[in-house]
Amino acid sequence: MKFNLAVLPGDGIGPEIMEQAVKVTGAIGKKFGHSFKFNYALVGATAIDKTGNPLPDETLAACKESDAVLFGAIGDPKYDNDPRAKVRPEQGLLAMRKDLGLYANIRPVTTYKALADKSPLKREIVEGVDLVMVRELTGGIYFGRPQGRSEDGKTAYDSCVYTRAEVERIVKLACEMAMKRNRRVMVVDKANVLATSRLWRETAQETAGSFDGLTMEFMFVDNAAMQLIQNPGRFDVIVTENMFGDILSDEASVITGSMGLLPSASVGLLTSVYEPIHGSYPQAAGKNIANPLATILSVAMMFETSFNLPKEAESIRRSVDRSISEGFCTEDINRLNPRSTSQVGDWIVKDMLDNR
Ligand code: IPM
Ligand code: MN
Repeated sequence: MKFNLAVLPGDGIGPEIMEQAVKVTGAIGKKFGHSFKFNYALVGATAIDKTGNPLPDETLAACKESDAVLFGAIGDPKYDNDPRAKVRPEQGLLAMRKDLGLYANIRPVTTYKALADKSPLKREIVEGVDLVMVRELTGGIYFGRPQGRSEDGKTAYDSCVYTRAEVERIVKLACEMAMKRNRRVMVVDKANVLATSRLWRETAQETAGSFDGLTMEFMFVDNAAMQLIQNPGRFDVIVTENMFGDILSDEASVITGSMGLLPSASVGLLTSVYEPIHGSYPQAAGKNIANPLATILSVAMMFETSFNLPKEAESIRRSVDRSISEGFCTEDINRLNPRSTSQVGDWIVKDMLDNR
């Protein structure tokens, strides 16, 4: 098959890790007889520097015209430390989510036996954890209006807004996902305080009704933050609103021992976007030390989710598993004998092609 892929490396370590993902995609082409056209486009701080816009029109057009989008990372400390900056790299990511209608962010959290000792949690707590975080991505406080400052500048406000339709489609997606797994959905909210959360609870209960054999439970977000540390093994599919999902998915990601391992898919109305869950890690930019595995695993998610090619996805995952069990990894995983970003990428490519 032939695929058009938009490639948005972005900022910081984005270009280095994306190079490995593109290599791996090419190897899949060789191994399974597919061909790819890679359309590179600017996003984030890099795009601001060159065009003044964190999501230039050409970039959005390239995304819309492609079969899938591979996204690296965005963010630059020069903006983080300047709360008065008028344009920010993150606006590019948020605009892309909104314009592509990417209402669901799917973040699987799986643990690797070989890495259990890297986790900040005890081995017996992390072993066997296998959950999926489904985060609503285009609503809530991230996009709610009004947002801003009072005229005297002394008051600021953000609004959390959800419609029933927005809640229904994301909860439905989470339920469908759970039906293919352990049939358990945990809806995380703050229904004891927030009106939006009460709408979530009401809508989720109704939505669950049409799924036979599904168990739906509810948990307040503060409790969920605690349970994720105390007993992460109890979760199957977690579904939650945008901001809670942002926070909880970072928390869930460190359970595996390295944030550098977790992929994500953002899906919705138009082209889906695949990206590592970690950020642009500016301290490591250009040093060839960042872990490319999360981005490589995002490519695996793309083959599975967008192209329905599970064998291609499996081939990538098996080689990633082997690189981890053999310790052929970057410094976040193998401190004693670290390999570089590009060495890990090359190793995965070779392993995929050697194991036909
Ligand atoms: C993420 C990031 C973004 C978010 C930032 C960069 C706007 O943290 O993808 O989780 O908050 O959604
Ligand atoms: Mn985040």
